Amino acid sequence: MGLPMAKRLLTQDYPVLAYNRTQEKSESLKTSGARIAQSPVEAIRDADCVVLMLAHFPAIREVLLSEETRSQLSGRTVIQMGTIGPSESRQVEQEVKAAGGDYFEAPVLGSIPQAQEGSLIVMVGASSKQFQEWSELLKCFGPHPVLIGQVGKAATLKLALNQLIASLTASFALSLGMVQREEIPVETFMRILRGSALYTPTFDKKLSRMVKRDYENPNFPARHLLKDVDLILATAAQLELDTSSLMGIRVVLEKALRQGWADADYSALFEAVLSDP
Ligand SMILES: NC(=O)c1ccc[n+]([C@@H]2O[C@H](COP(=O)([O-])OP(=O)(O)OC[C@H]3O[C@@H](n4cnc5c(N)ncnc54)[C@H](OP(=O)(O)O)[C@@H]3O)[C@@H](O)[C@H]2O)c1
Repeated sequence: MGLPMAKRLLTQDYPVLAYNRTQEKSESLKTSGARIAQSPVEAIRDADCVVLMLAHFPAIREVLLSEETRSQLSGRTVIQMGTIGPSESRQVEQEVKAAGGDYFEAPVLGSIPQAQEGSLIVMVGASSKQFQEWSELLKCFGPHPVLIGQVGKAATLKLALNQLIASLTASFALSLGMVQREEIPVETFMRILRGSALYTPTFDKKLSRMVKRDYENPNFPARHLLKDVDLILATAAQLELDTSSLMGIRVVLEKALRQGWADADYSALFEAVLSDP
């Protein structure tokens, strides 16, 4: 996601100084006009604003909050756009502010195609002042950034939406499995489903992958969905909600990862549904 988002900034005439742990992955950014930093320290030292699109909280710790990088944060604004938990986001905020920087979160809904065309849904956890100050930049990623509330609120909303990705996909996988095992034509199932109140477009988006059992070239890999499910379980538990239904989905997803589908499209959880425990 970081790559297409950096490219969007370049096409909107923002100067970009990019850092990625695996340097080869930044090569195409160099040809698009970005300067490549050799270290996080270099990237932060020479920028006004740091946009983070990292896998998870431990990666943020490693890249942004080492002793060396922490000393560069004074006067910088950090915009965290990956999917992390609300308490993790508040912790990063606290540490960035303690180091003299500013921080807010802007997680996104949508994937690589939306990042490429700048049509992500950008949810912002920030003060109104920060939102106003950085709205133009955020519009590079999505035309209508939405201010949700203070830091943590947008992170929670993003997790609430990803809960639906996990639940809808797992539900659809089980129904499709039942239909196929009984040799009911999948088209009959889909025709009835599409005409009913139960239908959601995500079913058609994942149907072809599941029927062909082809999970290559994912935009969103299964390992990230498991990471998100764990964040959702922790966050919902803190909010004193019953998470039993999602725990069942976690079992299925973890099984898919054990079967070797970690880097495949998350619809590969269908394989876990189809196989014995
Ligand atoms: N893909 C989507 O559709 C999508 C949509 C919305 C939100 N998100 C969220 O956005 C974030 C990024 O997603 P992605 O799909 O771009 O993930 P990704 O392709 O796995 O990229 C993760 C990035 O984090 C870096 N990273 C991981 N561990 C690190 C560590 N310990 N130290 C330093 N760097 C580390 C990786 O560096 P290397 O290249 O060196 O591995 C890479 O730059 C995730 O939080 C994800 O949940 C993803």
